[in-house]
Amino acid sequence: MDKHIPVLLNETISLLNIRDGSVYVDLTLGRAGHSREILKRIPHGQLVAFDQDSQALEESRPRLEEIGSNFTLIKANFEEVKEKLEELGIHKVDGILADLGVSSPQLDQGQRGFSYSLDAPLDMRMDLESTLTAKKVVNSYSLNDLARILREYGEEKDAYRIAKTIVETREIKPLESTLDLVEAVKRSKSAKELSKKGHPAKQTFQAIRMEVNQETKTLERMLEVAPSLLAPKGRLAIITFMSLDDRMVKRRFNELTKIEGDRHGIDVYCKQQKEADYIAITKKPVMPSLEEIEYNHRAKTSKLRVIEAK
Ligand SMILES: C[S@@+](CC[C@H](N)C(=O)[O-])C[C@H]1O[C@@H](n2cnc3c(N)ncnc32)[C@H](O)[C@@H]1O
Repeated sequence: MDKHIPVLLNETISLLNIRDGSVYVDLTLGRAGHSREILKRIPHGQLVAFDQDSQALEESRPRLEEIGSNFTLIKANFEEVKEKLEELGIHKVDGILADLGVSSPQLDQGQRGFSYSLDAPLDMRMDLESTLTAKKVVNSYSLNDLARILREYGEEKDAYRIAKTIVETREIKPLESTLDLVEAVKRSKSAKELSKKGHPAKQTFQAIRMEVNQETKTLERMLEVAPSLLAPKGRLAIITFMSLDDRMVKRRFNELTKIEGDRHGIDVYCKQQKEADYIAITKKPVMPSLEEIEYNHRAKTSKLRVIEAK
């Protein structure tokens, strides 16, 4: 069984304030690490869990069945959460969780092409039915688009140089494997850059993966719609692993919890003030303890933010 250690598990479950008899949505089922704990707490409630990776759903089903049968699994992108819940006749829910990014099994299964340390076809799709692969991105995007993606999604300093090497390489022979991409990155970096700590292709792989899975767009759409699905006192909890995602969540949560008309606490236009519809449950993001990081290195950059509907 492919293992995924759930991140910030106790913190997330406690901050979701789970009440039996209620409806909870896990937007990123993975290997059901968080969903199992939710299900244990709602024998009279309902869990609806999404994943765009059918393998995640297949492997999680028996893990959830060990606990109860009051759950529904949906293979879909979480940007469609509202429509998919409506199809089930659900209009409001009591809690929503999103634990963003890829799961450990996705990273560790060489053939999925997510890992820069395992030789595999350039794939990186979370949803194997989608048509955009990493191979398509690196072999067909323009130089400028590749450079932009590496800069914006990977925050890669050598974005233009790497994009140029990719384009020069594919003019001779298309890039086929993860190691072809790693080689192109290595050829673009100075000896000084290559001697730095961390894998030189880490940011490039992150950027291409984000493009393949359209992660920024889908997160933006989910952040737009998920808050409106919360019943009063319902909570939305989001775990991020990358600063770009965390900035998006932070900005959206600030927007939702801000009191309109309040200028930095100076009540100038008192009559124009409009109470916000949500309150911030976490004023600052919750981060993993040193013990958790030691036990699960992948938790290192995780941040949890939670809001509650009034
Ligand atoms: C970090 S893992 C979640 C792990 C899970 N919380 C656990 O403890 O087992 C993220 C999962 O979300 C899925 N995922 C990521 N983005 C998604 C999206 N936009 N729509 C649906 N599923 C998504 C991935 O396929 C992956 O299985």
